[in-house]
Amino acid sequence: MTQKVIKFESLDSTNNYVAKGLETGQYKANDVILAGFQTEGRGQRGNIWQSEFDKNLTFSFGFRSDFLNLDDQFIISKAISVAIAKYLENKIDKQVILKWPNDVLIRNQKICGILLETKLVERKRYMVVGIGLNLNQTSFNTDYAVTSMCLELGKALDVDSELSDLLNCIGTEIDLLKTGEIVKIEESYLSRLLGTNNYVLLKRNDVIFKGKIVDVKNNSEITVKKLDGSLNTFRAGDVRISY
Ligand code: BTN
Repeated sequence: MTQKVIKFESLDSTNNYVAKGLETGQYKANDVILAGFQTEGRGQRGNIWQSEFDKNLTFSFGFRSDFLNLDDQFIISKAISVAIAKYLENKIDKQVILKWPNDVLIRNQKICGILLETKLVERKRYMVVGIGLNLNQTSFNTDYAVTSMCLELGKALDVDSELSDLLNCIGTEIDLLKTGEIVKIEESYLSRLLGTNNYVLLKRNDVIFKGKIVDVKNNSEITVKKLDGSLNTFRAGDVRISY
């Protein structure tokens, strides 16, 4: 899959641009919308996503996702997460960890976030994929630990060429998805997932407990084995993994 890149100096949110453009016909599926700055960048769970002007990769693209059942859409998140992990592994000699549902970590610090949003237009279903990857920013104003490629590598990187390398990795995984090679994606995902080999702390409402992730379904549910051996299933949003 090759993707045309359209760059804007500033947008409210690249995800909004794609979603609105799909509705009005102004956006062509698969094109990549990149913004130097977002005035209303959005993260998961209604959080804001802040990124300094021209420092990082903040982009979105949308594609038809109705070749997948509505209940299997999380495989897209797995494919995109794996693509980002493989891209980072090519660049940085450190372990890349995926944190369910949509975070990418290096040394226990978030380097990339993914925002997936379904959009229905005239009975056609699209997935809008938004990616915020910390490239050249070196200080962050978040209440969780954050890093960037520049902080990990000790040098600044060229935004355009990094985008092109990342899109290559994304294209490869989306091609696997479209040809039905789901097992490969699932294996790559699980092998990098936080909480599969070691017990991690999970938080549900205000209750914290230890568990291991034994399965991630493509409807986004995780199955967690608790210390007492019992199995529990949680939906994204109902439980959070601490890191
Ligand atoms: C998260 O980790 O909370 C998800 C962050 C996703 C941020 C990206 S930046 C490009 C795209 N446009 C947005 O408004 N959000 C996503």
